[in-house]
Amino acid sequence: MDREEPFVVTVASEKGGVGKTTLALNLAVYLKALCEDLPVTVASFDNHFSVDGMFAIGPRRAGTVAGLFSGVPASDLARLGEYGVQFLPSARDLQAPDDDSLHLRRAIARSGLPGLIILDTRPILDYFTRNALCAADLILVPVKDRPSLVNVATLRSALGAPESQDRMWIVPSLVDGRLKLRNGIGVGEFLTLSARERGYRVLDFCISKSPKVEGLATGLSGRIHPVLTRARSTAVHQQFRKVASFVLSKFQEPGRSRTTLEKAGEAGNFPPGKVRKLVAECPVCRKNSTEDIGHFFLHLRTRRRGMLHGACLHALLEKLETPAPESADILIVETPEEYAASEGVLLHFFESEEEDLTRETRAGNSRLLSACLEGVIGRKSEEWFREVIFVSLEENRLSGFLTGKAGEDFMALRRKALRSAVGRERRTGPPGAF
Ligand SMILES: Nc1ncnc2c1ncn2[C@@H]1O[C@H](COP(=O)(O)OP(=O)(O)O)[C@@H](O)[C@H]1O
Ligand SMILES: [Mg+2]
Repeated sequence: MDREEPFVVTVASEKGGVGKTTLALNLAVYLKALCEDLPVTVASFDNHFSVDGMFAIGPRRAGTVAGLFSGVPASDLARLGEYGVQFLPSARDLQAPDDDSLHLRRAIARSGLPGLIILDTRPILDYFTRNALCAADLILVPVKDRPSLVNVATLRSALGAPESQDRMWIVPSLVDGRLKLRNGIGVGEFLTLSARERGYRVLDFCISKSPKVEGLATGLSGRIHPVLTRARSTAVHQQFRKVASFVLSKFQEPGRSRTTLEKAGEAGNFPPGKVRKLVAECPVCRKNSTEDIGHFFLHLRTRRRGMLHGACLHALLEKLETPAPESADILIVETPEEYAASEGVLLHFFESEEEDLTRETRAGNSRLLSACLEGVIGRKSEEWFREVIFVSLEENRLSGFLTGKAGEDFMALRRKALRSAVGRERRTGPPGAF
């Protein structure tokens, strides 16, 4: 529970034959080559068994990617395969178990799988593709021609909120370098310009079309070979390496997913390890808070952390009509499993002297609260489930929390509060089940 979620890369497009599977499988191999110690797991919702064709070693065993949707822990499904890549065996006939687009995201969050997960999808926007999109921290969309580019609009609208769309990157693919359009511009250039014109983010290079790469998947044995081992002389080799570097850079971004802020590292002179996941702005007023005195916050699952101004926290609690008790040391905010605006959130105040949660209040919802929590969690409220946030009620400087005694005290309090909550849950059943 108290750990980071893996970083999920989804390769999607409503068009078939644009190079999704080739990109997804090779990306896994190149990531391993660039970063040997990074755990990489790949899975496909397509039933072509390409994942198995590239990675499977030894006899087939029970358990496929379908298990993700029937409660089997992902860590039980993953097998160590060729090139050091873990994979989930493909399934012939996947059946949607419900109509919940967050099913996969929850399964992955609970999976205990570390590092990076790459998901290959079917060329339709079905249940599994929607789930893979919702679970993604980064979405790569190969586009090879005008129709496949026009089609990206469907994916974009499936992603909803503009912040969500920022995760999506177009990858111009299967580009024949010799081919020129009537006006003399190359296909790659045309795709890049047209994608930018439509407001998409686009990689600044293309994946070339190469007969040698095409040949890697056509053997009768069903074995599929990576570009890295069999086609190093092609331009695609360098291009896949660049895609892998791009993905790594996204993975390593401070605070990485969604609305996080890269400037944090510059804002204070903190040790590099401490600024990771640092949200630079106060989630209430959205002003930079890294230099200010305030209340430290920590999101349990993602470890996103930052500072809430004293006045901002006060205003928020006032709005919720829940003033902090005088003697409380830490505030715990918990969203219900299915966050509904009408339900609001649970607030717990913890007092270290009492070693108990002083009270639990269900605070009604407000737009300010949702916006604040979105800033802390880094995802839109539609994508929350049982989020837990700790807020120190002591005011201090960020440096005090990151490197000083205030930080040590905060972590000790956090552990105590967790223990107390778990103990109470056993006694009374789960209202607050973090
Ligand atoms: N860079 C490339 N150059 C040439 N052929 C490619 C390249 N990438 C993929 N292919 C071939 O194009 C076809 C479609 O690729 P695939 O990855 O299966 O696409 P999708 O998963 O989108 O349907 C396959 O035959 C594949 O071998
Ligand atoms: Mg495919």
